[in-house]
Amino acid sequence: MRNCFLAFLPLVILLAAPEAPAQSGPGEAPQEKPPTRYTSFRPGELWYDTDGNLINAHGGGILLVGNTYYWYGEKRAQHQEEGVNVYSSQDLYNWQYEGEALTPSSDPAHDLALGCLMERPKVIYNQRTGKYVMWFHLELKGQGYQAARAGVAVADKPTGPFRYVSSFRPNNHMSRDMGLYVDEDGAAYHIYSSRENYDLRLARLADDYLTPTTQDTLLFASHREAPAVFKKDGKYYLITSGCTGWALNEASLHVASSLFGPWQLLGDPMTGPQAKLTFGGQSTFVLPVAGQRGAFMFMADRWNPKDLKDSRYLWLPVQFKNNRPSISWLDQWNLSFFNQ
Ligand code: DGJ
Repeated sequence: MRNCFLAFLPLVILLAAPEAPAQSGPGEAPQEKPPTRYTSFRPGELWYDTDGNLINAHGGGILLVGNTYYWYGEKRAQHQEEGVNVYSSQDLYNWQYEGEALTPSSDPAHDLALGCLMERPKVIYNQRTGKYVMWFHLELKGQGYQAARAGVAVADKPTGPFRYVSSFRPNNHMSRDMGLYVDEDGAAYHIYSSRENYDLRLARLADDYLTPTTQDTLLFASHREAPAVFKKDGKYYLITSGCTGWALNEASLHVASSLFGPWQLLGDPMTGPQAKLTFGGQSTFVLPVAGQRGAFMFMADRWNPKDLKDSRYLWLPVQFKNNRPSISWLDQWNLSFFNQ
């Protein structure tokens, strides 16, 4: 009888396990947990994919294809960057690992030689060419942040594999932190930190999205990075962070009626405790939530420079107070928040 009970013990423990995995204590390596079904977002908590591995997709962004979301982000080791990971999900809570979308090269002479940095990858779909186009911030191996290039890769499927096309300084401008934005008319834009991050610039992309055009403008010169653009009711909004490396800083929000500006500073969109430090995070993307008109989700990274792969994800709903975007901390929430 006793042996019989022991035989069933693992099953009993599994059934009694809480829905979301518990966090490890300070200094402990995060534990690998069995797959679990999430029904909410828990900003800053450990987040596991459907195989039970920690999600590794930092500085990322999301593309919706049909009714599937694809999340692209930096694959990080403790410090090194190891390429771009992609995950898929139907509900935004549960993510299936789809593999490496873009892999570093084993050729030390390649632009993407292992040891290079591929930061802040974003993917958009080009209707004309039928290709998925990835842009990312590329730093060449062994050169710190001096190369300051934008990199471009393409794929036939959202999960890749992406094929490296080229990298460059757009119109000869340095290009570090970046985002992409596709407007309702299909025109796409690259928003990037330039001139040692003092300038934030925006360039319209060519029709195939593979290169910038010379429509390339200085938006403002206030030393900002981590740009994330979204549009509501004909107005463009732009969230950025300060430039303090991995350290925390205050976010800001700009608004404009045209992407090329003028951009008006509205101030810090974060409200409540820890708002002045973006709740310990740094912007990376704002996702329009499918099927929920006017619903947007703010995505940020809570970087852990001692162990970059353990940087956490802060996803929070964008609220509109007096028609102005505002973001408050929530320990836990789900998409029904947008029905309120
Ligand atoms: C801040 C940027 O936003 C990150 O993507 C990364 O480049 C760090 N700086 C590196 O210090």
